[in-house]
Amino acid sequence: MRTAWGFLGIRTDGLAPYPGEDEEWWANRVTILKALGVLDPDGKPTARLDVMAGADVLRLTAGDFDRERAKMLATCTECHSENYAKADLEKGDRIIREGDKLFAEAIRIVAGLYQDSILEKPDNYAYAFPDLLTFHDAPTPIEQRLFVMHLKHRMRLFQGAFHQNPDYSLWYGWNEMQLDLTDIKQMNKELRAEN
Ligand code: HEC
Repeated sequence: MRTAWGFLGIRTDGLAPYPGEDEEWWANRVTILKALGVLDPDGKPTARLDVMAGADVLRLTAGDFDRERAKMLATCTECHSENYAKADLEKGDRIIREGDKLFAEAIRIVAGLYQDSILEKPDNYAYAFPDLLTFHDAPTPIEQRLFVMHLKHRMRLFQGAFHQNPDYSLWYGWNEMQLDLTDIKQMNKELRAEN
């Protein structure tokens, strides 16, 4: 199964914004790409980008995205009008934009802890920056929470939306992401107070 947004729910057009996206969304996506280690903390592509591209888990050109979106639309329009189906798929796009706001804010909080040396760079980290690809081996509770926010709750948010399941998208996705962010903010406060 190959979808427009891909497994990670990320699209770029040659490491530039997908046409028509607003700057804020792009800035948030860049933050997410940094946490995935695809971009380094200065925003330059890393060797991991090639690994991710090889695994085909994100869309790297607008054409790649558009081709899959057109295929999906062709399926929807077997039963629905094109306008209806298109508008509905765009609601899914917008929920990703909203989720990315929460997620990027959480990443920036954890990145700030590295920047201020409250968290120390683990030996197996390439940079003093949160690394989402440590998955459940993330080295600190706050990064464990970031991992769950990413691979569990952000996934539910957009996959629920594109599967026509607003209940799942909202309660098990959006709501959990809000809880993650609130707790990450609290953990940040406590870690800073301790240090
Ligand atoms: C085989 C026909 C068929 C296809 C293909 C199809 N739908 Fe539907 N869709 C329906 C029917 C029938 C309903 C009404 C179901 C009902 O009211 O219980 C529906 C309902 C919906 C609803 C309203 C859901 C709600 O809770 O009100 C949306 C939104 C929707 N479809 C979007 C899509 C999208 C987007 C696609 C393509 C990804 C798609 N559909 C593909 C037949 C189809």
